[in-house]
Parts: sequence; structure tokens; C-alpha cells
Amino acid sequence: MIFRPFQSAAFSALLLAMAAGVGSAQQTADSLKQLYKRPLAIPFPASAPYSPQMATLGKMLFFDPRLSGAQNLSCASCHNPSFGYEVPVPGAIGAANKPLARKAPTVLNAAYTPIFFWDGRAKDLEEQAQGPITASAEMLGKFPEIISRLNAIPEYKDWFGRLFPGSGVSKDHVLTAIATYERTVVTGWAPFDRWVDGDDAAISASSKRGFELFNAKAGCAGCHSGWNFTDNKFHDVGFADDDIGRGKLEPDNPMAQHAFKTPGLRNLIYRAPFGHAGQMADLESIILFYETAGVDRPSRSPLIKTFSLDKEERQDLIDFLKSLTAEKVETPLPNLPN
Ligand code: HEC
Ligand code: HEC
Repeated sequence: MIFRPFQSAAFSALLLAMAAGVGSAQQTADSLKQLYKRPLAIPFPASAPYSPQMATLGKMLFFDPRLSGAQNLSCASCHNPSFGYEVPVPGAIGAANKPLARKAPTVLNAAYTPIFFWDGRAKDLEEQAQGPITASAEMLGKFPEIISRLNAIPEYKDWFGRLFPGSGVSKDHVLTAIATYERTVVTGWAPFDRWVDGDDAAISASSKRGFELFNAKAGCAGCHSGWNFTDNKFHDVGFADDDIGRGKLEPDNPMAQHAFKTPGLRNLIYRAPFGHAGQMADLESIILFYETAGVDRPSRSPLIKTFSLDKEERQDLIDFLKSLTAEKVETPLPNLPN
């Protein structure tokens, strides 16, 4: 899998140059923009190369409630394309019929994500997908049952037989197909991308000022770096709650306590509420929160510091964040075999 860490030395040098007032504002903005340039290809792992057939099968499975115990919940129940592959509530409702403790994160740009779940407990999409299918609070599915159910649907049986000659439907093959589909779920070109590509009129003056605030005064780019606006690392940003996040996997690392994976910031306008527990209703609330720097505790990231924006600057930052949302996209739903 191809993965480039985005928080480069070049980025730090640029920020230092900006702080010291070196170079013209235009030059600085132009160089900064290049740090957010989109990749042109999707990285697929050698173990699960792309094929349109595999992605199509995976898409059917992603939308198919027959993977759940009661045949009433699919992946899309909690990762709905109409809401940026999330759901517009703090806790989605799973098979246990009560809200989950954590917000469902987006599946968008998962192909570029090196580690999964808010606390990073799964190393790839295949391992990740196994979790919700069988978890009692999510889909409450059982693998032997799912396999016989899929085998009893002739069209599915054919698809698996053709794509996995000699072995057909199996747990691993279900997971491979779903993961392949997920890797194709990539955010489309946003006004911001057209600006990076040289169309100066693609975003407003306010969004451009917001881009500068994002990179400098508001300090957002320290963690939300690269074209998908995430370093894919774990940080405690100071939200007050009892969930220790990454701390559960790294009990001896003081900085892992209350730390969660940095989410990417694309297509945000569909993805509220925000935060690992959906604590923040909208973009203004989360910016106001960052200005206060949250709970002061040993684990809080040193990159989180109080700062203050006036009303206009706050709006500039919001306008910039909105410019990261792709222009209108439609997601056709698959017809499922009977
Ligand atoms: C009942 C709601 C629910 C269902 C159904 C569900 N998920 Fe999730 N999903 C979640 C929640 C909540 C999390 C975050 C849990 C955590 O981090 O502890 C999550 C996390 C994820 C992530 C991690 C994203 C990231 O960046 O770390 C992916 C990918 C994902 N789900 C895919 C799927 C797939 C594939 C299915 C179907 C097989 C599925 N989900 C079914 C609620 C759900
Ligand atoms: C220290 C690293 C860090 C800095 C600096 C930072 N963030 Fe975050 N951001 C994160 C992490 C980690 C989360 C998830 C935190 C959680 O839920 O506990 C997050 C969550 C978010 C979310 C919610 C996204 C979602 O899918 O729920 C938004 C929006 C956001 N940050 C925007 C910003 C903006 C704007 C700034 C600058 C004012 C900023 N961030 C500064 C690391 C950071």
C-alpha cells in the first residue's frame, strides 16, 4: 500500500517562513497550496487489487441488510452516502436498539487511511469490516449463517464463484469485496481542488483568508494536513468525556489517553455532528471549542492552544472548510439480487 506521511519537513519550514514574514504572501500561499494537492490514483493493496466486478459485488454487500442477524441493518444504515457516509446523529442505532457510544466516522477516502476506528484498533479495511458485521451492538450477524444465506441467492453464488474460482462465498471473500468497494469511495473534486490546480476564481476571498488562518493563526494544519486534511495520528484535542480512546490500546502512553484519530475534513457539510461522540453540532461550535483549547490535562496535544478569532475570521475559516466539499455528486444505489 502506498502511503506518504503528509506532515513533511517542507510544511514546517513553510510555516516558519510565514511566521518570520519571509517571501511574499502570494509565494507562501502558492507553496502552501501544493501541500494539499490531490493524488490522481487510488492505492489498492497487492492482496486485493481493484477490479470493477469486485467493487460492484462489494457495493451490493455494503448496502445489503442480509449481512445482519435480523436482516435489517446494512453498512449503509450507519454510513449513508447522503450524509457523507455517516449518519446525522451522535450515536447511530444498531442491533441492540440503542445509540452507539461513538459517532460513525466516514468511509470517504478510506483507501488513503492507514489505520481504522477512532482508536485505530484495526489495521486495514478487511479487518475493520469484520467488526460491525458480528458486533452485537451493530449488525449482530453470524458468519456461518451469512455464508449459507448468500449461497442460497443464485446471483451472489455466481458472483463469488466467478471472482473467487474454486472457493466461492467465504468470510474472507465477503470482507475483501466490501473493502474493495470502500476503497473506491473517494471524495470528488471540490472548489478548493480547482483553486489548488490554478483556478483563482474557484473559491471566495473569504475562503482564501480562511485557508491562511487554517495554516497559521488557528493552527489546524498541525494535525489536519495533506490533501485529505488528516495526519492519521491520534491526539487528545481536549473534549471532556470518559472515553479514553487510543488510551485503551496504549495504556502506558500518557499522550494516548483521550486521543482519537484525526478525521479528514472533506465533504464536512454533510457530516455533522462532529467529534468522536458527535459532541459538536456544527462547524461554528467546533471552531469556538478549539479557541478555548478544551480540557487542560497532561494528555492534551501541545498543538492545542487558545487563540481568538473575530466574527469575520471565524466565518472565513468556516467558508474555507466548506470549500473542501465536492461539487454535487450522486451515488446510484445497487439493485440487490434475490
Ligand atoms: C450500527 C451502526 C454501524 C454499522 C451497521 C456499521 N458501522 Fe461502521 N462504524 C460505526 C461506528 C460507530 C464506528 C466507529 C467505532 C469506533 O471507532 O470505535 C464505525 C467505524 C467504521 C469504519 C472506520 C473508519 C475510520 O476512518 O476509522 C469503517 C471503514 C466502517 N465503519 C465501515 C463499515 C462497514 C464496511 C460496515 C458493514 C459491514 C459498517 N461499518 C457497519 C457504525 C456502524
Ligand atoms: C492536535 C491536533 C489537532 C488540531 C491542532 C486540530 N484538530 Fe481538528 N481534530 C483532531 C482530532 C484528533 C479530532 C477528533 C477528536 C475527537 O473526536 O476526540 C478532530 C476533529 C475535528 C473535526 C470534526 C470532524 C469529524 O469528522 O467529526 C473538525 C471539523 C476539526 N477537527 C476541525 C479543526 C479545525 C478547524 C482546527 C483548527 C482550529 C483543528 N481541527 C485543529 C485533531 C486536531
